[in-house]
Amino acid sequence: MNVLVLGSGGREHAIAWKLSQSKDCTGLYAMPGNPGTAQIGKNIPGSVKDFRQIKDAVLEHDIDIVVVGPEDPLVGGLGDFFKQDPQLGKVLFVGPCADGAALEGSKEFAKKFMLRYGIPTAAFQSFTSETIAEADRFLESLKAPYVLKADGLAAGKGVLICQDLEEAKSELRNMLGGKFGSASKTVVIEEFLSGIEVSMFILTDGKDYLVLPEAKDYKRIGEGDTGLNTGGMGAVSPVPFADDAFRKKVAERIIEPTLSGLREEGIDYRGFIFLGLMNCGGDPYVIEYNVRMGDPETEAVMTRIDSDLLHHLSACAKGCLKEERISISPSSALTVVCVSGGYPGSYPKGKRISGCRVHSCGSFTSPVKVFHSGTSLAEDGSIVTSGGRVLAITSNSFPPAGEGEAGSWKKSIVQGRETCYAELENIDFDGKYFRRDIGLDIIRYIEG
Ligand code: AMP
Ligand code: GLY
Repeated sequence: MNVLVLGSGGREHAIAWKLSQSKDCTGLYAMPGNPGTAQIGKNIPGSVKDFRQIKDAVLEHDIDIVVVGPEDPLVGGLGDFFKQDPQLGKVLFVGPCADGAALEGSKEFAKKFMLRYGIPTAAFQSFTSETIAEADRFLESLKAPYVLKADGLAAGKGVLICQDLEEAKSELRNMLGGKFGSASKTVVIEEFLSGIEVSMFILTDGKDYLVLPEAKDYKRIGEGDTGLNTGGMGAVSPVPFADDAFRKKVAERIIEPTLSGLREEGIDYRGFIFLGLMNCGGDPYVIEYNVRMGDPETEAVMTRIDSDLLHHLSACAKGCLKEERISISPSSALTVVCVSGGYPGSYPKGKRISGCRVHSCGSFTSPVKVFHSGTSLAEDGSIVTSGGRVLAITSNSFPPAGEGEAGSWKKSIVQGRETCYAELENIDFDGKYFRRDIGLDIIRYIEG
């Protein structure tokens, strides 16, 4: 099969890397891709938002299946565009149409959907500038901290957590006044949930589903979860508290009602669903739905799927996932993201990257994979920085046998950290920064 992966980040490099291992993958393309995807396939210049360009690429390269990395084209209706175009009718497409993508594209839609189907989530109400007095009253009825969310897509920055009431009221006015452009014309205000977060992922054809490995994301720039929010500074998979009992609750209380709710609303959903969950004393609550995989979680998750992802994705797009079985590696995966100095604020670009293996993600069995995120190829052929998140280094290690489950997992994460951080010492560019504490909280959790 000829495969086209849309996107240019570490997530797309990791997906492409995994797909390249399939015996059915005869041609691998990425649009626009990055220097990492260029090592394993062919990059096609273009924009994921330019549907016409995507169509031309699909026809020119005889693409059989399209896998969409980011949410924007899905929310913008790329799935509908493929469905409606007679020349694209036979092309398999992994990702929901705009109706399903609204689970991520509109927080208000997602919250009301959860309310309709009894899916556990924080109590909420949504407001516009016409209902600002009600919004103030709702804020007054809640306890600090206050959670304010732009309804629409805001490049991952649309959630504000305010520590006091006056700040919340003032930010509400800023948001309704256009702080996030039209995305914050409607603002969802919700109850603050305390607990530990976990990212879970399913692949569904709308009827059946496969549960992918879960992961924990590290969102803040600073060690000990301090400082500004980022796109994600690291990931660990598996997550020890996501045990069988927790996963059963997620399946019964969240996944199954979500899928039956989608069917009830006449939404034919085929693609990934990323459940951003809060574990509140052993009970899962949905913080958010995303209609794509997470980044950097994907860079950890892909390395733990042993079965053929291309086979799973084709079955998903064809609507026959029922027969599929996913096989998950017993290894643990740890990802550390190396960023440009200054990120998530402004940062320089074009810094030359030197060091071991920056040109490749290693062999399939290598204990270290270097996934490219914000890199590009300079005119002289060297790899330079071109984004905030530059590289995602993932290590895999197998738990040693015979130490009891907890002891084995701890050892494998300790080992994974050693391998990952050793690799990071070899990689260099001006302003390189990464968190040194990825996985330490999981080790502490295991130690009790
Ligand atoms: P979201 O974009 O909805 O995932 O929100 C970004 C981050 O804000 C989440 O990953 C959480 O850390 C935090 N967050 C969002 N909603 C809540 C909530 N209701 N209670 C506590 N934290 C939240
Ligand atoms: N790492 C979180 C996200 O991809 O939204």
